[in-house]
Amino acid sequence: MKRIAVFASGEGSNFEAIVTACEQGAIAARTVLVVCDRPGARVVERAAAHGVECFAFTPKSYASKADYEREIVARLDAAGVDLVCLAGYMRILSEVMLAAYGGRIVNIHPSLLPAFKGAHAIEQAVACGVKVYGATIHWVDASLDGGRIIAQRAFEYDGDDVEEVERRMHRIEHALYAETIDKLVKGQEKWETGILNRKK
Ligand code: GRF
Repeated sequence: MKRIAVFASGEGSNFEAIVTACEQGAIAARTVLVVCDRPGARVVERAAAHGVECFAFTPKSYASKADYEREIVARLDAAGVDLVCLAGYMRILSEVMLAAYGGRIVNIHPSLLPAFKGAHAIEQAVACGVKVYGATIHWVDASLDGGRIIAQRAFEYDGDDVEEVERRMHRIEHALYAETIDKLVKGQEKWETGILNRKK
């Protein structure tokens, strides 16, 4: 069975959806590690509630991003992680993570990329009067929300209530992320670098 890690910085509702899908067999993988850059975040409690190991760290206590990413890579290696799923992890990955796990890292973003990259996608879309919203799952590279797209799902909304868009977005995200991860770990979805069956 493939082993996945989830990186998150805050609430962790996508982590909750992923770990629950794994527990129920809707994703053919085990969630073996959570990585969180804010030790007080709700996702840390959620990981504990599901009995998933959590590496919660404070970036400022490391000399550099490369330093804490080396620690993350060591923990991913130790946990035997096959696929890294970013889910509300509010940091750009550096060359350290990409060199070690590039081609095995996916992200979920709350817009129909390439529209509305960055941290305020929903607010920006609402401010533009967008009528069709959606979520995107994509491979992670050194660019901001710019890697190759794996899956997208849209919904229509004609209004200006940001919280309502967030609610609907989360419903779409939870379903789409679980379905996409399941396809990836089963090899039903093309991997960026054909790395799924690499020898360890
Ligand atoms: C999601 O909307 C995701 O698309 C974005 O950050 C949000 C995380 O939400 N990258 P949660 O922490 O999973 O509830």
